[in-house]
Amino acid sequence: MTSSSHISLPVPSNFIISLLILTSFLLLTSLASIQSKSCSGKVVISGNATIFSENRTFELGFFNTNDESKWYLGIWYASIPTPTYVWVANRETPLRSRDSSALQIDGGKLTVTENLDSRCDVVWESGDLNGDTTSSDGEYDVKLLEDGDLVVVDGHAVVVWRSFDFPADTFLPGMNLTVGQTLTCWKTSNDPSPGKYSLRLRPPDYGEVELLFDNKRTYWTSGNWTGNIFSGVPEMTLPYIYRFYFTNPFTETATFGFTETMAQQKPLTRFNVDYSGQIRQYTWSPQTEFWNMFWSQPENPCRVYGLCGNLGFCNSKSTVNPCKCFDGFRPSDGSGWDGGDYSGGCVRNGGDGDCGNDEFVEIGDVTFDQDRVESFSGSGSDCERKCLSDCECVGLSYDQKRNACKNYYGEIMNLGNSSSDLGMIQDSLSVRVPRGVSGKKMGSKTVVLISVVSSFVVVLLMGVGVFVILRKKRVTRRKLEEESVFPVTNLKVFTYKELHAATNGFSDQLGHGGFGAVFSGTVDSTLVAVKRLERPGGGEKEFRAEVCTIGNIQHVNLVRLRGFCSEESHRLLVYDYMPNGPLSVYLKTGGRNLDWDARFRIAVGTARGIAYLHEECRNCIIHCDIKPENILLDQDFSAKVSDFGLAKLIGRDFSRVLATMRGTWGYVAPEWISGVAITTKADVYSYGMTLLELLGGRRNVEGPPDAGNGGETNEKWFFPPWAAKRITEGDMGAVVDERLGGEYNMEEVVRVGLVAVWCIQDEEVARPTMGMVVKMLEGVVAVEVPPPPKLLQALVSGESFRGVGGISQNNTFTGVSNESKDSQFG
Ligand SMILES: *[C@@H]1O[C@H](CO)[C@@H](O)[C@H](O)[C@H]1NC(C)=O
Ligand SMILES: *[C@@H]1O[C@H](CO)[C@@H](O)[C@H](O)[C@H]1NC(C)=O
Ligand SMILES: *[C@@H]1O[C@H](CO)[C@@H](O)[C@H](O)[C@H]1NC(C)=O
Ligand SMILES: *[C@@H]1O[C@H](CO)[C@@H](O)[C@H](O)[C@H]1NC(C)=O
Ligand SMILES: *[C@@H]1O[C@H](CO)[C@@H](O)[C@H](O)[C@H]1NC(C)=O
Repeated sequence: MTSSSHISLPVPSNFIISLLILTSFLLLTSLASIQSKSCSGKVVISGNATIFSENRTFELGFFNTNDESKWYLGIWYASIPTPTYVWVANRETPLRSRDSSALQIDGGKLTVTENLDSRCDVVWESGDLNGDTTSSDGEYDVKLLEDGDLVVVDGHAVVVWRSFDFPADTFLPGMNLTVGQTLTCWKTSNDPSPGKYSLRLRPPDYGEVELLFDNKRTYWTSGNWTGNIFSGVPEMTLPYIYRFYFTNPFTETATFGFTETMAQQKPLTRFNVDYSGQIRQYTWSPQTEFWNMFWSQPENPCRVYGLCGNLGFCNSKSTVNPCKCFDGFRPSDGSGWDGGDYSGGCVRNGGDGDCGNDEFVEIGDVTFDQDRVESFSGSGSDCERKCLSDCECVGLSYDQKRNACKNYYGEIMNLGNSSSDLGMIQDSLSVRVPRGVSGKKMGSKTVVLISVVSSFVVVLLMGVGVFVILRKKRVTRRKLEEESVFPVTNLKVFTYKELHAATNGFSDQLGHGGFGAVFSGTVDSTLVAVKRLERPGGGEKEFRAEVCTIGNIQHVNLVRLRGFCSEESHRLLVYDYMPNGPLSVYLKTGGRNLDWDARFRIAVGTARGIAYLHEECRNCIIHCDIKPENILLDQDFSAKVSDFGLAKLIGRDFSRVLATMRGTWGYVAPEWISGVAITTKADVYSYGMTLLELLGGRRNVEGPPDAGNGGETNEKWFFPPWAAKRITEGDMGAVVDERLGGEYNMEEVVRVGLVAVWCIQDEEVARPTMGMVVKMLEGVVAVEVPPPPKLLQALVSGESFRGVGGISQNNTFTGVSNESKDSQFG
């Protein structure tokens, strides 16, 4: 088209002008309507109004997390006190106030609007509600279903839109994961905007799920679907509460989901892509009012890509605060680190503009990821000189033998200490720091880490709390606080300085449990074990009250608390030293052997210790974490149970302990997972599991089902169901540790085996009390042959076991024949 042809049109010029004016007017009004659409649609809810699902399980409405000026439309559990949001609409565009917010049906869309300053802003919209008919706005209806699905139905009652098709970070029973859908984590525990981690069906095959960093780097995969589980997640066959399905795997129409198997009394349960990059599974415990976390992947938090950010060091041994900055560095985002978002990484302490006055600190053999590496040959000082000449250079590796340099530029990610961590490069690394900030010179292998005085708040989540003390106990505690007295005279109060000196500056670490590191020390020329609690919950008064309770519990089979320290943020406990360490070290392949006599005494002693906690001490305590790591051996190899009462001191971080064990779905009592009340029988279950390990001289879970057998399944990977079957069939010899070389008392072996299987019965009532366990082991009562536990059997047979609610007919503990039953069974 040419301008001449245009001019030649026989149109009056005033007409053109009016046309121009009209067009611009129309253009302006249409622009204005995008910015400020009329809030004229049909209002579903507004302000503080909410919608409940039929039986009030879920609620839809506007919420904020910790900022009164940021509101979101979301769905949460209506029936629990811990705010838990399963879906959020306007994740990236918060509303400024609740009063002016509304959910509407407008122009054939579901919209979230803000009517503020006489403007109506659409902050979120659903896309067209394409029904099979075109309904007018007034005909659409919005409902929140009992499973947490927000649906829009058209005039013909056809569901035309559902929130389940647009997941946020949470996967609920009944939801489907299909090709093209992703679950994306929150940015932090308080910020629903999308974070860096997401989960999806893995392209191009769509036969497994994967976790991704930044939508591109895969850092965890589930393994291919085998027909009923993902190959890397054998726990999926444990059918306590779920049934998983994967229709059309390895196709574009692949659909993965799960349902709850229980007919009645379904526990609240969810999977969630946490802002820490893990996929986690939670079940609500009404008794403890916490979300219990039972499963998470990747298990090692340091395998989450970029968790600690640039130059952040990830310590997989630390159960809380996994990320640290090296000396000379600080978290770039202090408040983020406090909230558990470490992704900002570490920055140099001062000297930002001035990179000229730097030196290097060797941090030793580490693993890390680095995109820009420059390799050249030269001496150590050549490496350093070259690095110092470029402010972008952040560190180097120098190989003295080969006289070779590797200089690193840009960011150093995924710094970790072991090959089980994520980093691909393994080398001795020296990082560049401002001169003089570090007391250590190059060559020192030790790394001085800034202790991050931060609370790793795992809000939203979990926690177990219970360490169920009877209510009586709480009254006692309150009384204590009021009186402010310290009734345990034999408990010594230490200063931090004293314990620092006693442990030689916390230099000799004995171990590291879920509650913190344990160090050896000397007090009054006797050896002690000093436990430094990593993240104590609660205040000083509560701490003292709990310590006091623990201090009052004394039994020959319980580790004695000698004293404690509570000073500023320091919480330490001083215990008797147990020279022969935890039972777990004797259950390792290649570990020290224990003869049968010692094993039998350990079995009986442990049972007596737990029975005392349950039945005899003044304030009944459920241990909640019976396992070989918590059974210590003194100089005579007598068993002493440790860590009782500690769960109370730690509060919700306790659930992390449960979750760090591979295969926890099979290790803790089913009632933990199905969300019903926890009783002392949960300890009985864990004790039974421990007995099997003692008998077999191995851990209950060893490697994946098909480890190293050329694809052939290793039926003993999960020992308990295999062992229980042999025991109930009378084949004790198959179960007993080969290292004993046949040297054992068969009668005792039979008793231990039968008791173990009684203890791990599915139903609490079918398990004996610990008092009864002691009698059975001692041979005071005769033990009958128990039935094999069905739930565990289902795991190895791979069959779906249905109907947890359906096995409760004749199931009260019936394991003894000639003695009156323990009075506690009724
Ligand atoms: C909701 O807001 C209205 C008016 O602002 C108020 O009267 C009412 O009490 C509020 N309801 C609730 C449950 O907060
Ligand atoms: C709500 O609870 C009632 C009574 O327990 C039950 O019959 C009904 O099926 C439940 N409704 C839904 C949608 O689950
Ligand atoms: C999920 O997928 C299953 C099987 O493909 C289907 O029957 C079910 O209706 C789907 N549920 C939802 C909420 O889309
Ligand atoms: C998963 O299955 C796909 C398609 O059959 C195959 O290409 C891939 O190698 C499998 N992955 C693993 C880890 O076996
Ligand atoms: C790495 O692990 C080794 C042995 O486990 C330990 O001695 C060293 O201090 C660790 N290094 C860092 C930086 O934590």
